[in-house]
Amino acid sequence: MAGIDTLTSELGGSLAGKRILVRSDLNVPLDGTTITDDGRIRASVPTIKALAEAGARVVVTAHLGRPKGAPDPAYSLAPVAARLEELLGARVAFATDTVGESARETVDGLADGEIAVLENVRFNAGETSKDDAERGDFADQLAALADGFVSDGFGVVHRKQASVYDVAMRLPHAMGNLVAAEIDVLRRLTDSPDRPYVVVLGGSKVSDKLGVIDNLLDKADKLLIGGGMVFTFLKAQGLEVGKSLLEDDQLDVCRDYTERAKASGVEILLPTDIVVDTAFPSDDRTPQPQVVAADAIPSDALGLDIGPESGAAFAAALADARTVFWNGPMGVFEVDEFAAGTRAVAEALTTVDGLSVVGGGDSAAAVRQLGFEESAFGHISTGGGASLEYLEGKELPGITVLEN
Ligand code: 3PG
Repeated sequence: MAGIDTLTSELGGSLAGKRILVRSDLNVPLDGTTITDDGRIRASVPTIKALAEAGARVVVTAHLGRPKGAPDPAYSLAPVAARLEELLGARVAFATDTVGESARETVDGLADGEIAVLENVRFNAGETSKDDAERGDFADQLAALADGFVSDGFGVVHRKQASVYDVAMRLPHAMGNLVAAEIDVLRRLTDSPDRPYVVVLGGSKVSDKLGVIDNLLDKADKLLIGGGMVFTFLKAQGLEVGKSLLEDDQLDVCRDYTERAKASGVEILLPTDIVVDTAFPSDDRTPQPQVVAADAIPSDALGLDIGPESGAAFAAALADARTVFWNGPMGVFEVDEFAAGTRAVAEALTTVDGLSVVGGGDSAAAVRQLGFEESAFGHISTGGGASLEYLEGKELPGITVLEN
């Protein structure tokens, strides 16, 4: 852990007894208080453990969801701290506020090698404030709880927020091993990737992926498109998409991408068949999936997955890839009847002879929910938005601040 070794030297050669604030990304999906995918918590364990084993008093700060800058029990990190305790096999103290009396007392009560989690950092409006002074004021209070800072929440490094950015300017700091590993993989995707380089994009909206498509059109050899966003591409080619998700204001953009891809020799693959239904899946309705050709979507139907022919074609396009980046499910994978497309792509990624990267967010959740072993993939990112912004070529404030 090069970053943490540097921090150790800065702090006098040992972390023993030092209070180290760690920004982790523990933003996991919850059903009530039940964690439905603990991937991000598990990914955060190695850095926390390494710091505790080095004798540090580890103070974890993290967010959950998007509360409105004030305490909200629905977004409490308490269930997450309990899961972290199970995974670490060590007691985890929990502070019921972010920087107040409970936080100070909890940190003061830590012995060397012990760990505490502070309540959801977004319960304080200073965390996400656009006002530098307000953010800085909150960062001062966070920094007062620690002697050093480790940035390990990859999923938030694209956010200029107090616990990600401003606190690093106030304390000796280091990059945690999760962030370092994520950045290393992303560099391999952008600096001379092995070819063929295939990018698979899905998810609901074209507008979320504009920057990444823009940037990757010059780098990838093939671009496979599925998920809700594909219907805007199909419509842009003059096809009817029934009641499927459609972004009318992106039709010209899709046409432009198709033209640019042709001009630069990048192959764009769209599905040729679609699994449709007459309504979006819901609890009180049995799905009635039907496979139709992509150019024959009935006017009363909406597309919910790519069809079997397309799944096979996407798998074939991935077969000789040496580098793959995948972000966004191919369909409504949470419902069995519409999961086959996402499963076909995930399966194809497991056989890639080279680097296969699953972007964070929904695609990472999908591979776990569909029962794939994490080790079957080269890398499963913990940051959806952060990895996309990196691949768009944008500066990530949470990384820049560590490097300066
Ligand atoms: C994520 O879920 O992508 C990260 O935890 C960041 O969350 P945010 O989009 O609410 O900043």
